[in-house]
Amino acid sequence: MAELEPIRILVVDDDAEQRDAVARMVVAKGYIPETAQHGEEALEKLGGASFNAIVTDLFMPLLDGAQLLRTLLERGDLTPAIVLTGFGDISHAVSIVHDLRAFWFLEKPVQTEVLHALLERAVRQESLAREAAMLQRQAGYRGTLVDMVGASKTMQQVFALIQRVAPSAASVLISGESGTGKELAARAIHKLSPRAGGPFVAINCAALPEHLIESELFGHERGAFTGAMARRIGCFEQANRGTLFLDEITEMPIGTQAKLLRVLQDGKIRRLGGTSETYVDVRIVAATNRPPETAIQEKRLREDLYYRLNVFQIALPALRHRKEDLPILVDALINELNAKHDCKVDGLEPEALARLMCHAWPGNVRELRNVLERGVIVAREGALRLQQLPPTLGIPQMNLPAADTQTAPVFKFREGATLDEVERAYIQFTLSLIGNNKRRAAKILGIGERTLHSRVAE
Ligand SMILES: Nc1ncnc2c1ncn2[C@@H]1O[C@H](COP(=O)(O)OP(=O)(O)OP(=O)(O)O)[C@@H](O)[C@H]1O
Ligand SMILES: [Mg+2]
Repeated sequence: MAELEPIRILVVDDDAEQRDAVARMVVAKGYIPETAQHGEEALEKLGGASFNAIVTDLFMPLLDGAQLLRTLLERGDLTPAIVLTGFGDISHAVSIVHDLRAFWFLEKPVQTEVLHALLERAVRQESLAREAAMLQRQAGYRGTLVDMVGASKTMQQVFALIQRVAPSAASVLISGESGTGKELAARAIHKLSPRAGGPFVAINCAALPEHLIESELFGHERGAFTGAMARRIGCFEQANRGTLFLDEITEMPIGTQAKLLRVLQDGKIRRLGGTSETYVDVRIVAATNRPPETAIQEKRLREDLYYRLNVFQIALPALRHRKEDLPILVDALINELNAKHDCKVDGLEPEALARLMCHAWPGNVRELRNVLERGVIVAREGALRLQQLPPTLGIPQMNLPAADTQTAPVFKFREGATLDEVERAYIQFTLSLIGNNKRRAAKILGIGERTLHSRVAE
């Protein structure tokens, strides 16, 4: 706790003389006292402000010290309390310290030095507890970064990398399968950078015909080519003092990649058909859904451009490798979709979530978002049910946590087997996949639990 903040102590006693004496001792210690005549008044004051510690008498009208502590305990209020006890009351005091988690007790008459020492320790404990609570809250918040959600270890590493690279002007190359959030990550880098107030301009190199890419990037002067009716400002100039997101960089023609490299090296662009050069202050974030090394081998990405862009590489993990993120992703996406479609869906029923966990998500978070969007529109409110998900979802890769499709076990049966034998073998196969959980197996197979038991028993 910052030492500059005043330390406030609540003194609770029905005896005015005693109360004022303790309050004066609090002042002598350099702390600020607040007083209450009984437990009820104390609770009122505790409700309106926070205190670093409490000093309370035990026997008071209305609400006594023990009742006060019990109420605080029930409320989860952990302000440390020092209990004042009459002489010869030690065993009672000890039980209060134990049962009601008082900080400590103090025998009357109160001695200044002893009270000071106890208060000092109580205040320190309170500030440590407050710090711990703050850290815990921060840990909870760590599940998101700007608009990105992810609590898995790999996403946490991605978040840490983004936070580290964002403040610099360094180029960033983001790789990851389709739908893993590359554009979202690029936007996060921009928002966390000193350029956040400037423009974020995105250009998809795969979506533009080859002959238009250069004019899109660098702009052109009037009459630069047939059809260039007016002068046009390119993405580089639009993104001046901001960030330029080059999506699907490996789809940019190799010749254009060479020109891009030159811009990155000297910070100047020349519009097509133009005679002069213009300086631009642009930070580049590029993305690719092909592994960059493979793209270089296939001559889709110039090696020199790769080294220029790859000051930082951020690899976004596929959703199937971080299924532990599904629950918080689902929550975040449903919130967003509720707002978009004016619905009130609150989460998934457990069976539906289990089905999402089974799916391999080849389309990653985008696919998840699409599935949930359909579900939210259908359900409109309440919990999203299994029947409201696409029926094919998660069926082939039944409950293979984080497994790749290539390694998924295959169901085999003997040629010439009877239907009965195949059925029994398939039940066994399903059970073996989900750790012998008969209830889940019955659900997956669409049969009653009792039927499953009897088939297994056979
Ligand atoms: N970590 C995440 N948290 C929340 N939403 C996410 C996350 N990752 C992706 N999304 C959402 O999934 C969708 C796809 O994300 P995005 O467009 O950034 O993916 P991409 O990697 O650029 O895909 P593509 O390669 O197909 O262009 C968006 O709706 C985005 O908001
Ligand atoms: Mg994208």
